[in-house]
Amino acid sequence: MKGLILAGGSGRRLRPLTHTSAKQLVPIANKPILHYVIEDLVSVGITELGIVVGDTGDEVRASVSDGSRWGAEVTYLEQEAPLGLAHAVLVARLFLGDDPFAMYLGDNMFEDSLDEVVAGFEASGDAARLLLARVDDPTAFGVADLGADGRIIGLVEKPAEPSSDLALVGVYLFDARIHAAVDAISLSERGELEITDAIQWLVDNGMSVDHRVLDGWWIDTGKKDPLLECNRLVLDGLAGDGVMVDDQATVVDATLVGPVVVAAGAQIIDATVGPSVAVGAGCRIESSTVDHSVLMEGSSIVGHHRVTGSVLGREAAIFGGGDSGGPGSELSVLLGDHSVVDVHVPVVEPWVDDCLAGEGSGG
Ligand code: TTP
Repeated sequence: MKGLILAGGSGRRLRPLTHTSAKQLVPIANKPILHYVIEDLVSVGITELGIVVGDTGDEVRASVSDGSRWGAEVTYLEQEAPLGLAHAVLVARLFLGDDPFAMYLGDNMFEDSLDEVVAGFEASGDAARLLLARVDDPTAFGVADLGADGRIIGLVEKPAEPSSDLALVGVYLFDARIHAAVDAISLSERGELEITDAIQWLVDNGMSVDHRVLDGWWIDTGKKDPLLECNRLVLDGLAGDGVMVDDQATVVDATLVGPVVVAAGAQIIDATVGPSVAVGAGCRIESSTVDHSVLMEGSSIVGHHRVTGSVLGREAAIFGGGDSGGPGSELSVLLGDHSVVDVHVPVVEPWVDDCLAGEGSGG
C-alpha cells in the first residue's frame, strides 16, 4: 500500500501564518504536523509516500527531504492549484499506479495509530474505507449515511439535516477503482473536484465502501484554536505535567508550569511559562507570562505581557508593554512570520481619574 499525503492547499483559515509558510509545517510540541503524519504512515508499514505540494512546495521539500530519515521514500507531486482533494488524487495518478493507497490530509492529527484502520483493507475487496468520527455539529462536515449492514450508502456535504453524527475525517483508503471515479466527476459549485463526489460515485456504481469509527481524538489543525488544542493534547501525552527543556536552552529566574517544551537556544528569563506552551528554537521570553501558546522558531515576547492562546510565527516579536510591575493586559494573537507588535500601555495618573470624575459637572 502506498501513502498519499496532501500538503498543498491554500490555508486561508490560518492566515497570516500561511501567507509565508505551509500550514502542514506548523509545529505541534516543536515538531511539524507533517512529520507526525509521516511517522504515522511509516509505523503501519507504509513507506512509499507521495506528497502533494502547491505554492509552499519548496519549504515542504526542505523539511522532509527524501524521507530516508523515517525509512520512507518520498516522491513530490506538484499540484498547480488547490483544486480539491480528488484533484490531488488525479495529480498523483502516475505515482499511485494501480496500487491501493492511504490518503492522509497533511494538516490532520490523530491520537490513535492507523493500525486498526489499515488492517485487512487490501484483502477486503472494498473499493474504499473511510475514517469517521462522531462530531457535535455534523452540519459543518461531510457526513456519512450508513446502510443496515454498516456499508456507506451515501455522503452528504454539510447537511442541513444530518442523518448521523458521523463525519469524514482526514484519512481515506482506496483501491485503484477510485481513479475511474475521479475521472467521472466534475467540478463542484465551489470549483473543486470533491473527494466526497468521487466516493459517492463508487457507491452509486455498486462498489462497496466500508468505514471505521475513531476512538481517540482527531484534530484538523487548520485554524488557530484547534491547533492550540492539538498542541495541548500532544504536550499532555508527551510530558504529562512535566517540563522538557533542551540542554541548549537558558532558563533564569523563571517558573515553568508543565506541560511545557523548550527547544535549543531558547531563553526564558524572569518569566512564567505554561501550561501547554511549546517554545521553539531560539525563542526569547522575558518578564512575561505565557500559557496555551505555540512560539515558532526565533519568536520573542519581551516586556510585561500576559500572552495566552496565541501562535507566534517565525521571528515574530511582541515587545513594549511598559517596564514596571503589573502583568499588563492579556494578549491573544495569531502572528505571521516576522510580525512585530509593540504594545503601549497607557500610564493612568491619579489626576486623570479626578478629571474624568469631574467631567460634566461644569467645573
Ligand atoms: P483544507 O484544509 O480542506 O483546505 P485548504 O488548505 O485550502 O485550507 P483553507 O480552507 O483554510 O483555505 O485541506 C486539507 C488538506 O489537504 C490540507 O493539508 C491541504 C491539502 N490540500 C491539497 O493538498 N490540495 C487541495 O487541492 C486541497 C483543497 C487541499
